Amino acid sequence: MMFSKKLTSTFAEHRTPFYYYDIDLLEKTLQVLRKESDKFGFHVHYAFKANCNDSVLQTILRSGLGADCVSGGEVQKALDAGFPGSRIVFAGVGKTDEEIELGIDASIFCFNCESVPELQIIQEIAERKGKKVDVALRINPNVNANTHKYITTGLEENKFGISISQLPDVLEVLAECANLRLAGIHFHIGSQITDLTSFRNLCTRINEIQQWFRSRNISLEHINVGGGLGVDYYAPDEKPIAEFAAYFSLFNEFLDLNPGQQVHFELGRAIVAQCGSLISKVLYVKNGLNTDFAIVDAGMTELIRPALYQSYHKIENLSGQLRNDKLAYYDVVGPVCESSDCFGKRVELPSTQRGDVFAIRTAGAYGEVMASNYNLRGKVRSFTSADLLKEKA
Ligand code: LLP
Repeated sequence: MMFSKKLTSTFAEHRTPFYYYDIDLLEKTLQVLRKESDKFGFHVHYAFKANCNDSVLQTILRSGLGADCVSGGEVQKALDAGFPGSRIVFAGVGKTDEEIELGIDASIFCFNCESVPELQIIQEIAERKGKKVDVALRINPNVNANTHKYITTGLEENKFGISISQLPDVLEVLAECANLRLAGIHFHIGSQITDLTSFRNLCTRINEIQQWFRSRNISLEHINVGGGLGVDYYAPDEKPIAEFAAYFSLFNEFLDLNPGQQVHFELGRAIVAQCGSLISKVLYVKNGLNTDFAIVDAGMTELIRPALYQSYHKIENLSGQLRNDKLAYYDVVGPVCESSDCFGKRVELPSTQRGDVFAIRTAGAYGEVMASNYNLRGKVRSFTSADLLKEKA
């Protein structure tokens, strides 16, 4: 998505900061995703945690994906947005009783369960309601995702899932749970995974685990491999769509399935990251002793990823690009009272002035949803391409 001159001047007229979502790009992404996953009959659930913007959700709903939720709030949002209960999966290590009740009342597709005590509570609530509930066991496969340690989830040291050695005990407990049906197994090894070998290792581990279930004559209807496919933060224009073809065909090639077994995915970032940009304006250019700072009106309160994970986001000075100004280096920082409130150090940008419009790219995933009002900053706004062009500041 290159920003046109017209869009740049529309951005300039609006109060910043705000998230801008390119719904055309999202639609194209979803088309490719559907084409590549439909080839193998795979089911994709969109991971709500990545972005819950209403226009984004409606676009995803239209494309026919299910919903992957990790809280009662997300389950409710999915229902309100129109996702049928039968297409909602609900994961999370700490589901409250109220959240479990909500899921049962909405007859969701499946609870991804992460511990024995959780299974027992779901059983208790299901029994009280006289309902039969489908559960999948989230198994910790101990596979390294080779990504940032904060977004690695499938290692034994992580809090997620049930370890393979505990499966015999879990099956004993399940045998006592008359209101639960073991529908399948679930995995998720981490996020922003660009080295597909990690997914291949996951397939190998899933095959071993399946063998274990087969040897006990337990047939599992569903295999949920989670999400985690990464995107290219360095090349949002050259590579706007994630590697869906390679990703889905890898699972098709390496997963050893029983006849009729259904495969599910929970993708978040790969669907929404590239369609979002954080639009901001330069408040001041401050000449430090060794560095020039471009101080923008967005901060870690709007996009926390650089501060929290030292993650890279491409930064563009859209106004400077139009002026064709010569390049210089800036530390691009926000107004929040924290030194970590920095979007990039020594970023090469066209010579920058007060009022210039900046785009912080690939911010559609884990951007707006992780915003906070620290320093009592207001809630960040968001617009789609259509909203912006029809409405003035
Ligand atoms: N399924 C489960 C069980 C998950 O925990 C996650 C993400 C997903 C699916 C979706 O993963 P994705 O396809 O989006 O990689 N805030 C971090 C990312 C946290 C991911 C948490 N779990 C970031 O900004 O990088």
